Amino acid sequence: MDEWGFTLEHNRSSIDYFEVSEIRETPQTIQQRKGCEPIAALTAYDYPMAKLLDAAGVPLLLVGDSLGMVVLGYPDTTHVTLDEMEHHVRAVARSKPRGLIIADLPFKSYETSQQALSSAQRLIDAGAEGVKAEGGLVILSQVESIISAGIPFLGHIGMLPQSVVEEGGYKVKGCDSVQEEELLADALALDQAGAFGLVLELVNAHVATEITDKVGIPTIGIGSGIGCDGQILVTTDLLGTSPDFIPKHVQPEQLLRDRMIGMLRVWKESLTNRKQ
Ligand code: KIV
Repeated sequence: MDEWGFTLEHNRSSIDYFEVSEIRETPQTIQQRKGCEPIAALTAYDYPMAKLLDAAGVPLLLVGDSLGMVVLGYPDTTHVTLDEMEHHVRAVARSKPRGLIIADLPFKSYETSQQALSSAQRLIDAGAEGVKAEGGLVILSQVESIISAGIPFLGHIGMLPQSVVEEGGYKVKGCDSVQEEELLADALALDQAGAFGLVLELVNAHVATEITDKVGIPTIGIGSGIGCDGQILVTTDLLGTSPDFIPKHVQPEQLLRDRMIGMLRVWKESLTNRKQ
């Protein structure tokens, strides 16, 4: 047994996959956790990772456009297409997880209300159970058209990765009173429009707590302190398998990538040794 309490015997692990709840999550079950139970959300881009998140009982799976960097090798999320998102949503949906599957609307796929609705519908047809898009008041008409079509919507404000090129980097938001007011107005507008939750990315921790107190929907933070109703991470950052860079707000217990490289080397060397 290793330090994680894990044994591997003929492909079967000692982890009890069935100790987690059988409940299928919905936007309502996620909302009901506000003020009661922290919401754990993680990214999934493919079938095997979605199965592992399901085995761990993760209630919200995000097919994030971070897949651009994590899986596809792009420099940022602005290169991800709707076709690529659909492909990964289908893979995650095939795992039939109990967690709610939310998919990101990629860059430039929600410029108008009509485009936002048709892009959201494509992700739903691929197997997503809701969509997320970046922005507050500036995308309100797009958000309203998605929600009025009955598609669950998760908001995302603060640092917006799809704006990284024009913003010149990943910077913390809400550090002055103007930004604080803007974030609050965005959060309240999304709540009012019917979003079922709100991701706060790289928001000053005090402002994130203030937003959490003022909105009726759960906030899910990433690099925004502990005052949010839940936390979301890029799974490969949490596991320490991200090859290039792990952000400051994540401290993986172990860099699994080192362990993986070690296993690969041991296997490669075992072949050489067998030949001698
Ligand atoms: O694309 C993504 O992974 C995200 C984050 C909130 C984790 O949007």
